[in-house]
Amino acid sequence: MSRVRIKSLMNDKKAWGICDMKKVTTAACSAILLCSAAQAQSADPLAPTGSWSAYTAGRAATPPMGWNSWNAFAGTVDEEKVMGSAQRILDSGLAGKGYRYINLDDGWMAKRRLSDGHLMLRAEKFPSTAASSDKETPSFKPYTDKLHAMGFKAGIYSDMGRNTCTQAWAATDEDLPKGSVAEREVGLHDHIDQDIDMYFREWGFDYIKVDGCGLRDFGPNSAKVKAGLHRALTPIMDLGAISRTDVAAVQKLFRQVGKAIERSRPDGDFIYSLCIWGAANVRAWAKDVGNTSRTSDDITPAWGRLLVNFDSAVHRGLYAHPGSWNDPDMLYIGAGDFDADHITEARSHFALWAMLNAPLLIGADLRKTPDTLMEIFGNADIIALDQDVAGNQATVAYDSNDVQILIKTLNNGDKAVAVFNRGSGATDVNLQATQLKYRDDAPVEITDLWTKKQLSFTKETKLRVAPRETMIFRARGTRALADGFYLSELPGKVNPAVDGVTRPIADPTIFRTAYGWGGTRGAGDRPQYAGWGGARADSAPYGQTLQIARKTYQSGIGILVNSRLEVRNDRYRRFATKVGVDDSATDKTNVVTFIVYGDGKRLAETRPLKWGMPAEPIEVDVSGVKLVELVARSATTENEALPVTWGEAALTGS
Ligand code: GLA
Repeated sequence: MSRVRIKSLMNDKKAWGICDMKKVTTAACSAILLCSAAQAQSADPLAPTGSWSAYTAGRAATPPMGWNSWNAFAGTVDEEKVMGSAQRILDSGLAGKGYRYINLDDGWMAKRRLSDGHLMLRAEKFPSTAASSDKETPSFKPYTDKLHAMGFKAGIYSDMGRNTCTQAWAATDEDLPKGSVAEREVGLHDHIDQDIDMYFREWGFDYIKVDGCGLRDFGPNSAKVKAGLHRALTPIMDLGAISRTDVAAVQKLFRQVGKAIERSRPDGDFIYSLCIWGAANVRAWAKDVGNTSRTSDDITPAWGRLLVNFDSAVHRGLYAHPGSWNDPDMLYIGAGDFDADHITEARSHFALWAMLNAPLLIGADLRKTPDTLMEIFGNADIIALDQDVAGNQATVAYDSNDVQILIKTLNNGDKAVAVFNRGSGATDVNLQATQLKYRDDAPVEITDLWTKKQLSFTKETKLRVAPRETMIFRARGTRALADGFYLSELPGKVNPAVDGVTRPIADPTIFRTAYGWGGTRGAGDRPQYAGWGGARADSAPYGQTLQIARKTYQSGIGILVNSRLEVRNDRYRRFATKVGVDDSATDKTNVVTFIVYGDGKRLAETRPLKWGMPAEPIEVDVSGVKLVELVARSATTENEALPVTWGEAALTGS
């Protein structure tokens, strides 16, 4: 067997090295190779798998839509309030537009019955549960039956720890579980299989939000634990410090819950929503574990807080795909800065969430919501952007602290465009055809999705954007890349299976609001959400322009070295890119090899490249290939110092 032939059998560099070094016979060498390849397959995260690894179980091909009780009612939720909002969703026609999930948040739990560990609900608040056949054990089944009969799906809330967030934070104990310390342990911890089976199989829920305060707020020094109210659970998660977080342990628990849900709902009719606010570096791994994942702490009805939540997700488009979405938290339209006196802000909130492919979960008491706000929830053209089946979260085409232009590629090739004025003064914005990756010598037709006004421009147009306004359009033009798409236009098809981040750190680019939990007491909000330096569309991992040896790339994927991207290909014949170490790298010494695989087979490999060397072109035939994998490999362990660029990476030729 020739050296070349052996090499082509291998997808793993290390095994190749072993064989070469040992200078063994051909037969022995191939035996070593086969064995090492098998080992490498399991041990080497950069080895190609030939399969898409992001989460696809459940029913989240598009982001979930519906209603949640928390923003409007917090712990005072009851059946009448829930059903009142559900009825309005039905009567107003919102149900027909996709608002399907009616979700109960915290506040429904009475206690855990110690004899059998069964969770008891607050029957006095949910009178339909009195219809349960076992009078001693009220069941939510009649309640979920009622919602199902109305055409809805039903959602429930729990916590990954022993206790929930209201138990950690509520000022009074009025709406909290009652009884002994053990009876008040209503969270999933140590009860995962039992509780999940009850929620999904016995009670008929279709959606669960799993919160995380139980893993973080009940350490031995917490005031409530010290006061004897709760048993201590050594925190494994800290929103303010990733180094005080056991990421693997947190991940393990959430995976366990996912598996339990899949067992209890074998038909796959469920949504699994993670709620740990960007802690434990969840912004990087939730895409493999559940259907939606909170990227930040709670939204409040304040403009500054909207910015925080928006920023926590906006640069993370590559981490969202059909089946698993970034969740910047529920809509707060209907209160504070987003009430009927703030239509501009309310519309911005809705438009931005749609561009992010966020879950559209209404958080208002719809029994009292004025029609002007109901019309916002009901804007079918904007809902269609959020629910577009391609599942491409918007990419930031123009970025600044004042104005952002977001572009989202839709399934039919149209673009959605949002022009967001974050600031407090009106501003002029130049929207350019090239920002949409359209040719600037051909007309671009745009339709304003609020006013339905149409406009055509060539090259660029000037838009006057009011303070806090988001203009939102659907656009059609002539593509600069005529016969395909840049990968950065298709984040829904690109999964950073391994993003190279070895030391997650807080993201300093997220707006920090003065509206913190403690007013302006103390030192203020610190950068806290981990995930800085991950894979980015049209940007280097730390926000710089993509550049290789001083040449700029307007389109491309920026990622750290020792990474593996999975790219879904449904119809294209050619994959091309120009690769190299990005100029933003501080490591000028280590070399990087770029390898392209098609359905697990090596299609191309570059020579070793280091900082300052010109980009190397790769062009391969991917006809019939379902999954392209892009690996950037180096001997370094300091991945953070070595960002790499897949410049102009594109699938073309259908
Ligand atoms: C946390 C979550 C909120 C809500 C409350 C309930 O703060 O982030 O969305 O579920 O808990 O206590």
